[in-house]
Amino acid sequence: MAVLNILKLGHPTLVKKAEPIEKIDDAVRRLAADMIETMHAAPGLGLSAPQVSVSRRLITVDLSVGEKEGEVIVLVNPEILEQEGKVIRDEGCLSVPEVFEKVARPQKVKVKGLDLNGRECTIEATDLMARVLCHEVDHINGKLFIEWLSPLKRNLIKKKFKRQAEKRKT
Ligand code: NI
Repeated sequence: MAVLNILKLGHPTLVKKAEPIEKIDDAVRRLAADMIETMHAAPGLGLSAPQVSVSRRLITVDLSVGEKEGEVIVLVNPEILEQEGKVIRDEGCLSVPEVFEKVARPQKVKVKGLDLNGRECTIEATDLMARVLCHEVDHINGKLFIEWLSPLKRNLIKKKFKRQAEKRKT
């Protein structure tokens, strides 16, 4: 397993709609294992394949951030089937470090996807788990959480990251 580099705001892969995974093979399983390692090392509650430069529909979630065994969720080609309610809470993203802003998310969601054995699974989640699942599914649709903020806030954050990227180049 390996800790992968996490792309930051401004990278084109983060705003591209990711492709479905047609076949769950060893490469997909290795990617999932690396993503879990990367998510735990970051540390973060969730990660999507586009954030580690792979434009595929794969997400990992672990609300315990590696503290509890058996808490990791891996979903291939996840889809939100149902959502209800609304909770406004601070949210952040490993691709937009040090930025935390209030985002409205459903209180409850029903998500469908495949596990790493290709079996279909449906997850019903509430509150933080619902939030993280929505956040990661947004990622594979090329949408960062800052897209939910006001245009003014979003542009300020984008400008800040652009300046930082330019600084790194010089
Ligand atoms: Ni994120």
